[in-house]
Amino acid sequence: MAKQSWEKGIARKMYTEEQIAVRVKELGAQITADFKDKEEDIIVICLLKGSILFMADLCRSIELPLKMDFMSVSSYGDDFISSREVKIVKDLDENIMGKHVIVVEDIIDSGLTLKKVMKILGNRDPKSISLCTLLNKDARREADVKVQYIGFNIEDEFVLGYGLDYKQEYRNIPYVAIMGPLDEEN
Ligand code: XMP
Ligand code: MG
Repeated sequence: MAKQSWEKGIARKMYTEEQIAVRVKELGAQITADFKDKEEDIIVICLLKGSILFMADLCRSIELPLKMDFMSVSSYGDDFISSREVKIVKDLDENIMGKHVIVVEDIIDSGLTLKKVMKILGNRDPKSISLCTLLNKDARREADVKVQYIGFNIEDEFVLGYGLDYKQEYRNIPYVAIMGPLDEEN
């Protein structure tokens, strides 16, 4: 078989599976504590596709009744640069009016995508809306977004794995990694 290592193109691990698991449990515990006395329903929203693995693990760490919903917006293409346009590709199935909404994101970079998403969802009159991101890159922030729950603050590097992709690949790498040169030697 030709060299088809699933780790091809990865320069180094940034966060291991174990480190991620510990941090996700902490975030789940924090969210559980913050929402345990609330009476209204909780809806956790996964922003597809990058957040799927984080969403799955995070929801298992939130020890409260909740509903899951999924939303897909386009803003990033197969490129390193965020475009300014945010389009809803798949909208929510649930009505979020009067509910506690927790938006789950893989990474916040410029913040432009999230700013638009939070505005769209905020206009639907949820009881509350909070944001939970696995990774936060402050270096390139252009839009002011309030993030209540952050897994890890990272430097300005392009990362892969644990849901994050490069041209739709690498999402199944179980750790977060920094991308290296995409050559045969790597
Ligand atoms: P903005 O810039 O609007 O974009 O905050 C957030 C979205 O951009 C993607 N993104 C990345 N995806 N590795 C990735 O795989 C990265 O380092 C990276 N930085 C930004 C991501 O989809 C996120 O939702
Ligand atoms: Mg994303």
